Amino acid sequence: MNLKILFVDDEEEILDSFRTMFIPFKLNWETFFANSAKEGLDILTKEDINIVISDMVMPEIDGLTFLLKVKSLYPHIIRIVLSGFSDYEKAITSTNVVHQFISKPCSAEDLILKINSLQEISDLLTDKNVIKFLNQIDKLPIVPDIYRKIEVELKKDDVSLNNIADIITKDIVLTAKILQIVNSAFFSIPIDVKDLRTAVNFLGINVIKSLVLASSFFDYSGLTNEEMNFLEKVWKHSLKVAQISSSLAKNSKLSKAIADEAYLIGLLHDIGKLSMLTNKDYSAKMLQFDNIDLDSFNQKEIDYFQTSHSFIGAYILGVWGLDNTTVKTILNHHNNVSIDWNNLTQQSILRIADITACNIDDDPEKIKNIKIDDDFINKFNEMEK
Ligand SMILES: [Fe+2]
Ligand SMILES: [Fe+2]
Repeated sequence: MNLKILFVDDEEEILDSFRTMFIPFKLNWETFFANSAKEGLDILTKEDINIVISDMVMPEIDGLTFLLKVKSLYPHIIRIVLSGFSDYEKAITSTNVVHQFISKPCSAEDLILKINSLQEISDLLTDKNVIKFLNQIDKLPIVPDIYRKIEVELKKDDVSLNNIADIITKDIVLTAKILQIVNSAFFSIPIDVKDLRTAVNFLGINVIKSLVLASSFFDYSGLTNEEMNFLEKVWKHSLKVAQISSSLAKNSKLSKAIADEAYLIGLLHDIGKLSMLTNKDYSAKMLQFDNIDLDSFNQKEIDYFQTSHSFIGAYILGVWGLDNTTVKTILNHHNNVSIDWNNLTQQSILRIADITACNIDDDPEKIKNIKIDDDFINKFNEMEK
């Protein structure tokens, strides 16, 4: 399906630059342009728009008011803001209204890259069952502000791990959460890590980045004891899958980049469950199935809700702008995967780790040393039955 994109900016020159910017590229999306929020809302009544890219500072109705309106009238539309970092932006972040920020000025290539990656997952982004379910949840997690700041910091030529640690430390709740995870048995760090700088130095920036992203899904507020237990179980399982995935990649001599990506995918693969948990109907129906096997659980979700955590999780991460390998791997993690043991893909790594995590104990040493040999393959085939 082709995506329909609406650009809203009060400056005619900027709209013109968008109009001409895309001409040299052969694109399979449709564009619409509005020079005020009012005109934008008008177009929305006539066209089935999928993505809105809006300026922030506009006369009459400003970008924030406009996007809040879009959110309440058309909750399924992806809302992207064009802006620089400012205090104003901070206010927007706290309103939970923006899915992605694109900083101004942006090049045609950057913008196209971003939109094309959304186009690639357009079937997911326009999936009626996913949208229907998400519209019943009033608070969807948004990309943590801190994650974006880390990304900006990482683009600098003189990246400093200490600077990154300091950015995270400003958020006390997040810092406490990360330290708690880092000190859990999973990381088997020989010392008690009391501050973020040490944590970043021990685990590396990619693991910390993954933890920052994942932590936005771990919110206990409003949960019953039973739901809290479920959330904790998902969290533990996800950490274990992340560790196993990363060990599998490392011990198969895959690059560090692939191992880091495998870690991120492992950590996030079941986050759809945590978003779904905020729908009370979900816990009423699903918590009783906590102990059935992974694929049957996914199927039960589909039976009840016509969608499942693999769709919901992939959708949220797609809207956040995570790369397509991550999104698609998570989307398909309960589909039949044929594993080529000599040529592991992220999809097969996740499948192996997901099933292995349910069948081995939490011994970090064992997990670190997991490697693929005949013995492991035989055991895995037994587990998968
Ligand atoms: Fe899953
Ligand atoms: Fe899982």
